[in-house]
Order: sequence, then structure tokens, then C-alpha cells
Amino acid sequence: MSNLTNIKKEDRIIVALDVNTFDKMKDITLMLGDSVFFYKVGMGLFYSAGNQTVAYLKEAGKKVFLDLKLHDIPNTVEKSIAALTELGVDLITVHASGGRAMMEAAIRGATMTAEKLKINRPKILAVTILTSFDEKGWEEVGGKTPIKQQVLHLAQLAKGAGVDGVVASPQEAKSIRQVCGETFEIVTPGIRPAFAQVNDQKRIATPAQALSDGASRLVIGRPITKAENPQMAVQCILEEIRGN
Ligand code: C5P
Repeated sequence: MSNLTNIKKEDRIIVALDVNTFDKMKDITLMLGDSVFFYKVGMGLFYSAGNQTVAYLKEAGKKVFLDLKLHDIPNTVEKSIAALTELGVDLITVHASGGRAMMEAAIRGATMTAEKLKINRPKILAVTILTSFDEKGWEEVGGKTPIKQQVLHLAQLAKGAGVDGVVASPQEAKSIRQVCGETFEIVTPGIRPAFAQVNDQKRIATPAQALSDGASRLVIGRPITKAENPQMAVQCILEEIRGN
């Protein structure tokens, strides 16, 4: 696996495009210009304007994190990941609870397509347990192990299946880094720079804190997209993480 210590600072910040039309997405990228290199496209935007959006971002020389959280039988996931790899995206998410065979199929779909097209294989990231779960909700779906423990278990399963990393809350980053090692991607949302409002995020961390706890990349939405001066917000965050 690649060494994560030499990821460029700019590639550590992934801006969440939480809009659902091509035009709104374009407005955000034009507003941010050259200050941002990596964008997250989630289900809302992908299902309404996905292919056009990815093509536009790639054309503009940006990297794309496709957060579609795939979860199906291995054969279906392999074919879906193969199709998404053809778009030229850089990161794709699947659910770790889909199991080892499903995650191995995801890697296979990405690898075979990337080799065929002679492009870089997108990294596959696993989602462990959605952070919307509390212990009660987790028990309702049959969870027997405390969430924190299960998150670590699934992160290790993902690593064993050859997956490149996980999406995790900043609070989980440290223990995942300890058990999964230095080359494992840990991508964390729930980031609030010192200057930003908390909004509806609960378990938050500053960019510097998340990185020093082991995150490899940060997903940031409103603190950048809703800032009075979004480009300045990015510069402040880059300043904040200098040295990490
Ligand atoms: O605006 P904000 O910085 O809160 O956006 C964070 C992004 O990360 C959003 O796209 C949100 O859906 C996503 N996310 C999150 N918390 C999680 C998982 C994903 O905020 N636990």
C-alpha cells in the first residue's frame, strides 16, 4: 500500500459537494477555483447528475471521492465498481458489513478495469458503522458487540480483505490507526476548524486534531462552502494543518 505521509496538503482536504444539481455543484467549484483539488460526490448529487458531474470535475483536473456506500452481493458490487472505475474516480466507498467476499470483489472490479484502461486503480474505502447509530439502534438491528469495538473489528476485516482504508469519525481515528497501521487511509468527516460554526455535527474535531489523531484526509463541507470567503477558509485550514 502507498505511503500516506507524502500526501500533498491540498489532497488532504476533500470538499463535500452536498447539492443535488449540476449547476449548484458547478457554482461551488467555480467559487473555490484553484484552492481545492479534491471533491466528494455523494448519493444525492450522483443520482441526479452523476456522470456529468464526474466528467466536469475530471476535466477541471480535480480528484473525485465517490461516496456511494455500495452494499450488495459480491458479483453486483464487482460490476458496479468496475463501471465506476471507468469514470476515472479516485476514491469509492463500500459497506464493510457487506463482508470479506464483497470487499474482495470490489477491489477485483477496480483492479481489472484500471488495468484494462491503463489508469490508476481507485482506492476503495469501507464504511464501518454509520455514525447515525446509537447503541439502542445498533441493538435493534442485532448488534451484540459495543459499537466502538465493532468499528475496529470491521476496520480490521476491511484491511484483511485488501481494502485501502475506512471512513471514520475523528474520535475513532486514533484506535483505527493503532490497529490498522500506517498505510491505511482514514478519511474523517465531522471536521470543524477553530473559526467555523458547529452546525448539526456532534462528534467533531479540528483539522489539526483529526490529522494528529491519525486521519489521512478530511471531508469538509459547510465550513468551506458556506464561509463568507470560501477560498480564505481553505487557506486558513491549510495554515492550521501545516506541520501535521
Ligand atoms: O458540512 P459538513 O462539513 O458537516 O459536511 C460533512 C460531509 O461528510 C457531509 O457530506 C456529510 O454527509 C458527510 N458525513 C458526515 N458524518 C458522517 C459521515 C458522512 O458528516 N458520519
